[in-house]
Amino acid sequence: MDSLPFRQASENNKLPIHKVLVRHLVSRSSLLEIGGGTGQHAEFFAEQFPDLIWQSSDVPANLELLNLRIANARHSNLPLAISLDVNVAPWCCGSFDAVFSANCLHIISEKSVENFFAGTSQCIHKDGLLLVYGPFKYDGEFTTESNARFDVWLKNRNPVSGVRDFKWVNRLAQDSGLTLVEDNIMPANNQLLVWSKL
Ligand SMILES: C[S@@+](CC[C@H](N)C(=O)[O-])C[C@H]1O[C@@H](n2cnc3c(N)ncnc32)[C@H](O)[C@@H]1O
Repeated sequence: MDSLPFRQASENNKLPIHKVLVRHLVSRSSLLEIGGGTGQHAEFFAEQFPDLIWQSSDVPANLELLNLRIANARHSNLPLAISLDVNVAPWCCGSFDAVFSANCLHIISEKSVENFFAGTSQCIHKDGLLLVYGPFKYDGEFTTESNARFDVWLKNRNPVSGVRDFKWVNRLAQDSGLTLVEDNIMPANNQLLVWSKL
């Protein structure tokens, strides 16, 4: 269907992300996606992991668009996306083996990132995983010039957005009971961070 929501970046990054997810998700049965966006990741990863229930979510304003693609995909392990705004507690979404979120932490405000970690840790089973894809700074430095330019572009669009510092994000994760298990360098100046709830 031509009218489905689409981002070229999601097409470009889904295979590299899959290479990491496949090491972590084969034995998992349920996953919550936060900020599902166009649904391209949900559709693709639900196909790749048929034994995993991929529960996507997004803020109410984006749900209709996201569910266009999800309904069109008709995968039995891909239910319609649920409404989830990281700033509205409690999340009321149940408990999952894993949580995945791509390209959200640099969009939402710092306060929202704090809420993201507080809420996420409540949704993950013991021994479950949090997998977060996107650009990060290290010790306050951008990994590339292009990420520095991206940060300026983000802030011009919305001053609360911005590429987050890995150390700050990891401290929020630790404070929420999550332990970093992997920091994967990804194409296009991104990382895929994996935490475990021990
Ligand atoms: C750049 S898009 C990323 C979409 C998709 N994950 C991807 O990688 O293409 C950021 C997403 O964050 C969602 N978002 C923004 N504010 C949010 C909030 N407060 N709670 C949950 N999701 C939010 C947006 O609706 C959007 O889907």
